[in-house]
Amino acid sequence: MDTVLVTGAFGLVGSATVRRLAADGRPVVATDLDTPANRKAAADLPVAVQVRYADLTDAAAVDDLVSTVKPAAIIHLAAVIPPFIYMHRELARKVNVEATGHLLAAAAHQPEPSRFVQASSIAVYGSRNPHTVSGVLTADTPTNPADVYGDHKVQAELLVRGSGLDWVILRLGGVMTVDPGSYMKLDNLYLEQLLPADGRLQTVDVRDVASAFAAATIAPVVGETLLIGGDDSHRQIQRDVAPAMAAALGLVNGLPAGLPGNPDDNEDWFNTDWMDSSRAQEALGFQHHSWPDMLVETAARAGVTRFLLRAVAPLARVVLQLRAPYYRTDNKFADPWRAIGDKWSDPRP
Ligand SMILES: NC(=O)c1ccc[n+]([C@@H]2O[C@H](COP(=O)([O-])OP(=O)(O)OC[C@H]3O[C@@H](n4cnc5c(N)ncnc54)[C@H](O)[C@@H]3O)[C@@H](O)[C@H]2O)c1
Repeated sequence: MDTVLVTGAFGLVGSATVRRLAADGRPVVATDLDTPANRKAAADLPVAVQVRYADLTDAAAVDDLVSTVKPAAIIHLAAVIPPFIYMHRELARKVNVEATGHLLAAAAHQPEPSRFVQASSIAVYGSRNPHTVSGVLTADTPTNPADVYGDHKVQAELLVRGSGLDWVILRLGGVMTVDPGSYMKLDNLYLEQLLPADGRLQTVDVRDVASAFAAATIAPVVGETLLIGGDDSHRQIQRDVAPAMAAALGLVNGLPAGLPGNPDDNEDWFNTDWMDSSRAQEALGFQHHSWPDMLVETAARAGVTRFLLRAVAPLARVVLQLRAPYYRTDNKFADPWRAIGDKWSDPRP
């Protein structure tokens, strides 16, 4: 059967995608950077999964990888994403744009060129003021990136469309997991807290994202750009998402409240919004986990640590409040791009 090569295979989406393909009985080769953490994660993969380490910024290594694996399809997930992209802009461009070019060239050189499934993001649409935008995001909404991440994704999409390969682009919403422990880093929390509290965000369970990627390698969707968000229960307001997930883990009332966005300024909003995923759902049938079900499952998995976290929640709230982006400013509204610049680096493209 036809092999699928998954890049970024030990990341959040990659781990779930590799497991989905393996569970479906598809031959899968997982590739990522050769690090001690990835070697450890590799030991826990289903035995049928092959692992090959490569740094995708190295064109020769990419060529070697693709010509050895001869994949029928490539799911390209490897990237440097927010907030880390704001700390490593130059490396991020090499990974997010140049490495995509290396993979496309290697795939095109194959005697039987691979189908290329590209992970993109709704960050391509730029700032979204819910007080002034009309409707929800569709594949036809014009791209207008507000930051380096959205810009990289637009550039990568252009390379994919011009590659001559059979391609599919999946633009993802806010990917969530019922096992969020390892993603609760201080930098992620800081980013979450600086976002306009009343911004719109469509979340999606990472297992459903994995189903979408697996289906996109074989479904009749070549040449389509598809929006991957969860069902209507995932249409959320930013201020509700992290506190609900934290509460499911036991950290009830553990996160301080953020600031609302400025209704009169279209630029000072983050690049998230609600999405029309109906075509993607019709073609890929990927939506299986509602937001309420995710919270129930998160709580069940957290087990006894819920009681511990519940006990420290008041203290966590005080500490996080002292570290909050707008603490001791007289801001009435969130100012996300400036706050990112103050903390890490100028995020503009
Ligand atoms: N997580 C989200 O909410 C979200 C939203 C929209 C789009 N996306 C896109 O989905 C894809 C997967 O995201 P994720 O959340 O799993 O990210 P992640 O950061 O968890 O995983 C990215 C993986 O890429 C690998 N990688 C980085 N540089 C590399 C290099 N030079 N060579 C080889 N591998 C390298 C990393 O080691 C990591 O395992 C990305 O393209 C991202 O832009 C994610």
